[in-house]
Amino acid sequence: MQPHQPGPQHFAERLVDWQRCHGRHDLPWQDGTDPYRVWLSEIMLQQTQVSVVLRYYPRFLQRFPSVHALAAASEDEVLAQWSGLGYYRRARNLYRCAQQICHEHGGVFPRTAHELQQLAGIGRSTAAAIAVFCFGEHDAILDGNVKRVLSRSHAVPASASKATELRALWNLAQRLLPNHDIQAYTQGLMDLGATVCKPRNPCCPQCPFQSDCSVRQAGFDAAPRLDAASGPHSWQPDWNTSARPAKARRKQSWVLLWAKDVQADSDTIWLERRGATGIWPGLWCLPLFGSHEQALRHAAQLGVLSGHRLHPVTRHALSHVDLQLEPLQVSITPIPGTREAGGNWFALPAALALGLPAPVRKLLQTDANLSRPQDAQVAAPP
Ligand code: ADE
Repeated sequence: MQPHQPGPQHFAERLVDWQRCHGRHDLPWQDGTDPYRVWLSEIMLQQTQVSVVLRYYPRFLQRFPSVHALAAASEDEVLAQWSGLGYYRRARNLYRCAQQICHEHGGVFPRTAHELQQLAGIGRSTAAAIAVFCFGEHDAILDGNVKRVLSRSHAVPASASKATELRALWNLAQRLLPNHDIQAYTQGLMDLGATVCKPRNPCCPQCPFQSDCSVRQAGFDAAPRLDAASGPHSWQPDWNTSARPAKARRKQSWVLLWAKDVQADSDTIWLERRGATGIWPGLWCLPLFGSHEQALRHAAQLGVLSGHRLHPVTRHALSHVDLQLEPLQVSITPIPGTREAGGNWFALPAALALGLPAPVRKLLQTDANLSRPQDAQVAAPP
């Protein structure tokens, strides 16, 4: 038998009360209703934890304090500020969206979720969150955390069809909307999912729905850990307390060609812009190769080689891939004209101002820091 579930009004009242006492109130994007600041936070928070966003958000706002400043920048500048946050498609859509707002909406954000959803990178849930927080619209959100909260509290059964399941969740999210306190309610859903109704080890004693949460009543561990095809009374494993079966992570090994111009006065390196697909789309990067031979062959096209050395392998985890990166440093006297070959020689400070993948930035920064004290030692009088 299904446990009693709170009706829409009780659900919302309890959630709003809980949010006021136990929710988050001091996040930097909560200090007003400026759609630029709220939009930026919602995009950064997609697939990224609050603790990480807190490190990037103030710096990004300082560099681009308004949608106009963002639209007037170059995509490279935007990618450079985003560097390290990952999922770079978000940054490129953010930039496109800023341009749409400035060029097609007179620099003013649309006020409805429906209109917001027409803009680059803004999906249904993000549009609703912006419309709720900035303009008080009554609309439902349904991000990953909210899916988990609703499917657990209301025992939304897994369905053979993901689309059917999603429709059921959107309908439920819409049905539960309160007539008032929409902002505290929406923030409450986000907060409950992030801090209490966590994917693993949920803190049920702190949950306002502990007495009637369907999945808890059924006993988390007793709840069937069945997949979507297993019948109408199953819950998806990742909405359960048990760990989601780990997705198989792919491993990739790359040689990073780290070409340095030996003729330049200051540290000057070769970077190429990555294509639209594959890892780090659109970022500037040390070229990647499957082998040392391939990397050296490519280096020979850039100029005359006068030495090379291998650096220690570094590891870097992307969402579904574990990367193993082996930097191969090569000293080169460039051949004039190689500028056209999809890349360019950059002095190190200019390179560090570009949108670089995080491990490449780290490598170059470490190198820059290492070379500075050595230079100072050479320059110091005996
Ligand atoms: N996750 C998505 N949007 C959020 C918000 N506005 N506050 C906290 N966490 C969130």
